Amino acid sequence: MKNASNTTEMSGQIRSLIAHTTSPHLLHILHAVQQQFLHISHAAMLEVAAQLGLPISQVASVVEFYSFFYKTPRGRYNILFSNCTSCGYLSGGENLLQMLAQRLAVTVGETRADGVVSIGETSCIGMCDHGASLLINGIPLTRVDGAKIERIAALVNAETPLSAWPAEWFSVDDNMRKRSLLFTNELPPGESLRAMLKSGAEATLEEITQSGLRGRGGAGFSSGMKWKFCREAQGDAHYVVCNADEGEPGTFKDRVLLHSYADTVFEGMTLCAFVIGAKRGFLYLRGEYRYLLPQLQIVLEGRRKQRLLGADILGQSGFNFDIEIIVGAGAYICGEESALIESLEGKRGVPRNRPPFPVTHGYLGQPTVVNNVETFFTAAHIALHGSTWFRASGTEQSAGSKIISVSGDCAKPGIYEYPFGVSIQQILHDCGAQNVQAVQVSGPSGTLINSTEFNRTLGFEDMSCGGSFMVYANERNILNIINNFAHFFAHESCGFCTPCRVGTSLLKNSMDKISNGNGTHYDVDEMQRMAALVKRRSHCGLGQTAANHILDALLRFPQAIEQRLLPGDFEPHFNLDAALEVARQMTRRNDAAAHFPSSAIHPSAGAFLPSPAGGRRAGDEG
Ligand SMILES: Cc1cc2nc3c(=O)[nH]c(=O)nc-3n(C[C@H](O)[C@H](O)[C@H](O)COP(=O)(O)O)c2cc1C
Ligand code: SF4
Repeated sequence: MKNASNTTEMSGQIRSLIAHTTSPHLLHILHAVQQQFLHISHAAMLEVAAQLGLPISQVASVVEFYSFFYKTPRGRYNILFSNCTSCGYLSGGENLLQMLAQRLAVTVGETRADGVVSIGETSCIGMCDHGASLLINGIPLTRVDGAKIERIAALVNAETPLSAWPAEWFSVDDNMRKRSLLFTNELPPGESLRAMLKSGAEATLEEITQSGLRGRGGAGFSSGMKWKFCREAQGDAHYVVCNADEGEPGTFKDRVLLHSYADTVFEGMTLCAFVIGAKRGFLYLRGEYRYLLPQLQIVLEGRRKQRLLGADILGQSGFNFDIEIIVGAGAYICGEESALIESLEGKRGVPRNRPPFPVTHGYLGQPTVVNNVETFFTAAHIALHGSTWFRASGTEQSAGSKIISVSGDCAKPGIYEYPFGVSIQQILHDCGAQNVQAVQVSGPSGTLINSTEFNRTLGFEDMSCGGSFMVYANERNILNIINNFAHFFAHESCGFCTPCRVGTSLLKNSMDKISNGNGTHYDVDEMQRMAALVKRRSHCGLGQTAANHILDALLRFPQAIEQRLLPGDFEPHFNLDAALEVARQMTRRNDAAAHFPSSAIHPSAGAFLPSPAGGRRAGDEG
């Protein structure tokens, strides 16, 4: 009886959540359910599926897929520490996560028995210029240190509402450090659109193409060509999608663009809509940036009032376009454009087979332009100032400027805009970095370089950069960094294809083994073989780049790995002698014969066979 009334009550609550949500997107409804019930139970999934007319399998698989949905209850304070090398809980030298878990008497990954608090980890939350940071009930709390941990613990234990916590803890600054082509030019709302309406869609497309603008999301495809292909593609409707999933560790430039330049980003999307003939657009905002949503809605509303969105934009008959914001739920893979489109359609973010590409078969199978936030921002400037103005900066193949997010071991982390062609050395100088041993350019999926390469330049001719620039000083342990990246990819692999799903986990295991001091040359050889396989055989860009950092480290920092290796040829993943402890206790033996000397361990399937040769050589298998 009680269950029936509980179910009826929950059904009513979910109906009310659906009725009151401004956007009936599955991710938004599941987020509302998660907030209300602190988890999404099977009964809730059934209810959501029934009320939205969706198959339960779709709802259940979406709940399973995204990190910010939970099937078991989380605490009323749900704390997620970023584990990135820049904004992560270890970045200050202390293990802040363990410290808070201890103060709150909660096991990491679990919810305290009284239901008050749960603590866990999450991938980079895009606060890399703010020191160690965490999400509490989805809101970023920045610049965490030991003293703050004590105060957080006290506030949680006293169940003080977040609204009464010190407001400055939640401040997220732009940290704008260097302005060049784009940031030095003010762009009043509507100016680019007026310029475009004066010259027409074709001329604007020509300007974008002639400018040499290449996508700022990483791949660097010509934006003019992308818009042209989409414009020419047949379909019932065309769509514009702004990719604000910004999940690459070390990247936060889109956060700043959306915080302080959202008008210009929306203007760029609206230009694109006019060129390709789209009436609907989406901004896909990563779940970690949900805190930006209210402000972004205000900007959209303002643009509607100024007739920069909606029907007959700026009085141009038939120019109808509006933008909806869809908020993700914690999945790096949703930055990959076809996975993003799947997510927009209310599904798991699994990358599609390509071709066909989104320009012909995108959202709902219709022609769709997907561009990065910075690409739309830049396009709006080009439409007003022209291609010649843009081409005057940068290099032959990399016109204009690039906005980068600098973090790590430097005095001035933040946002820097440079004309393409700037050297790594110049950036290091400007951000006040000293004694630098390595820079990770373009995030873990990019390139790890050492100090012999700081004369290299940013640009598609040399080092392309999606926006992440992570600096590592001499004191940093390179092995810990690449191990952190290996964990990142194993966690973020969507699991669709075997080379990436299994390969990233095996790479992570190898890195753990080496970091723990149990690795040998055999493991390095295996890791190299596996890295090549994952790179070559994976279905999408995540897998194809997931081993870059390992291969780079083997090439450029071999000593960091070498010095952690054991002298023998092979060691198993775990300490065999320690594993025998239970047996020793049961048999009450602790004499020498009850212990394994490491030289007596045979590698095959972890079998405990004495081996006179004391191990085997790489390539001995079979
Ligand atoms: C795993 C993965 C994550 C990605 N994340 C992003 C992202 O956060 N933002 C982005 O703009 N592009 C991202 N991309 C690239 C997109 O697939 C796509 O190329 C880009 O959005 C196109 O926009 P652009 O032409 O303006 O660069 C990612 C690609 C992969 C493989
Ligand atoms: S490469 Fe990785 S992320 Fe991409 S489809 Fe395969 S499993 Fe998913």
